[in-house]
Amino acid sequence: MVGEKQSAAERWRRLVTDRVAEAERLSAGPGFSTAAAWDARAERYMAGANARDTDEDPLLRRLRRLTTASSTVIDAGAGTGRFALALAPSVARVTAVDHSAGMLGVLRRSADELGVANVETIEARWEDAVTPPADIVFSAFVLTLVADAPPFVAKLDALARERVLLYLGAYSGDAVLDPLWRHFHGAPRAPGPSHLDAVAVLDELGIHARVKVVEIANHRRFATVAQAVEYYRDALLLADTADVRDELERLLGAWLLGRRGAWRSPLRSVPAAILEWTPAAAQEGRTPTVSEPV
Ligand SMILES: C[S@@+](CC[C@H](N)C(=O)[O-])C[C@H]1O[C@@H](n2cnc3c(N)ncnc32)[C@H](O)[C@@H]1O
Repeated sequence: MVGEKQSAAERWRRLVTDRVAEAERLSAGPGFSTAAAWDARAERYMAGANARDTDEDPLLRRLRRLTTASSTVIDAGAGTGRFALALAPSVARVTAVDHSAGMLGVLRRSADELGVANVETIEARWEDAVTPPADIVFSAFVLTLVADAPPFVAKLDALARERVLLYLGAYSGDAVLDPLWRHFHGAPRAPGPSHLDAVAVLDELGIHARVKVVEIANHRRFATVAQAVEYYRDALLLADTADVRDELERLLGAWLLGRRGAWRSPLRSVPAAILEWTPAAAQEGRTPTVSEPV
């Protein structure tokens, strides 16, 4: 039987919508799709981001190679600013756009603590943000939350003078958590879009990105199994009950590696993809102009 042809953008929308709907149905918490959801997890996200070694991160290393002291940069969906703040000292200006006031509040607090004065924050959906163009425009771990991918991607392209970079997981964290997810929920998790779905969406927009699969080191450590239980309970969208915590503790106790009081997942690194391309303006010798909401 031949099915009706579905565009990559429609397939993307379906994957994001179904996955977000499942997460919001199962989660007692705020979900993932709204600014309020990110406001609620800003401090925890910051703590998690601090546990990663951003300096070693392959996207940051690539951004450092592409920029100079005179470069301007836009970080679309900057969150608590791990990339924006790491890059700021070596470039002229970073514009950090995010729709969550909570995430940007943490970013500004960190900028003050670090004495970083050249990061401007814009609280808006990327699709609605009004900002001048920049030499480099990038977005890390945001697109898989966005159901309507084409306008988001087209705007990254429209505002870039030299290069655009998109960073996405290249291997679903679900693969690691799948046995635990099935154990508790009795069914597989709704799959999210992959970096290959993103490549297909880009192709439909006439954007032919270079795809580089990289490894992100996993430095997450838990001081106690109880801390790991809290982290995985949240990741698996499980209810906060004593039964769930006991069961999770039993399962994690057999799976986590523990040494010198630091428990960690056996996964030492996770693959991610950097999708990188030269924006249309640069290919056509045009200068991009100030954005309009899309
Ligand atoms: C997983 S976090 C990634 C943050 C940061 N890029 C990083 O890699 O640490 C996703 C962020 O995207 C933001 N976000 C989601 N959809 C957005 C949109 N349409 N416009 C702007 N920000 C968005 C959320 O508020 C959140 O801060």
